[in-house]
Amino acid sequence: MLRRIRMKLETWDAADRVAREFTIGRRLDTGAPLTGRAERDEPDYSQVNRLGFPIISEYAHIRRAHVTDPGLRILRRPYNYDEGLTPDGKSDSGLLFASYQADIDRQFVPIQRNLAKGDLLNEWITPIGSAVFAIPPGCTPEGWIGDTLLS
Ligand code: HEM
Repeated sequence: MLRRIRMKLETWDAADRVAREFTIGRRLDTGAPLTGRAERDEPDYSQVNRLGFPIISEYAHIRRAHVTDPGLRILRRPYNYDEGLTPDGKSDSGLLFASYQADIDRQFVPIQRNLAKGDLLNEWITPIGSAVFAIPPGCTPEGWIGDTLLS
């Protein structure tokens, strides 16, 4: 699955650091989850602040996108794109979001629905293109790509 997702960088850059970290659920400098210290620390979604609010908001991107069942996870690869300025002077840039999964309906769609319902990042992003590709499994050195499907 490949999606072209436009991102309003002007207003994203205008948001302060706290707002951007709150939106993603991770720190901008280290990549650590808001509940941890290092990038690889597991986010702790049960932690609350002294007022009793979750430290990683239920609307934070990583929390909404998180999947606990390993069989339902996706593999992701992001590529930035930057086409310069639109005729009205706005930045035409964003992400080419590639997601790899065995079953789009079981894996990708539920995550995307969860994000559509309440991801804070939606304030800045708009998917503008979407395509699905079938990728055949790999092959042995003697074989050829797709041989397990076609022969
Ligand atoms: C412009 C659009 C997007 C941006 C800027 C963005 C950014 C991020 C960032 C910064 C992280 C945390 C670091 C990481 O784990 O890589 C993340 C995590 C994640 N994102 Fe996105 N993302 C975008 C769109 C999407 C979409 C469309 C999906 C799926 C439908 C998605 C699914 C995920 C998942 C599954 C995680 C890992 C959550 C976990 O920790 O379990 N993202 N994203």
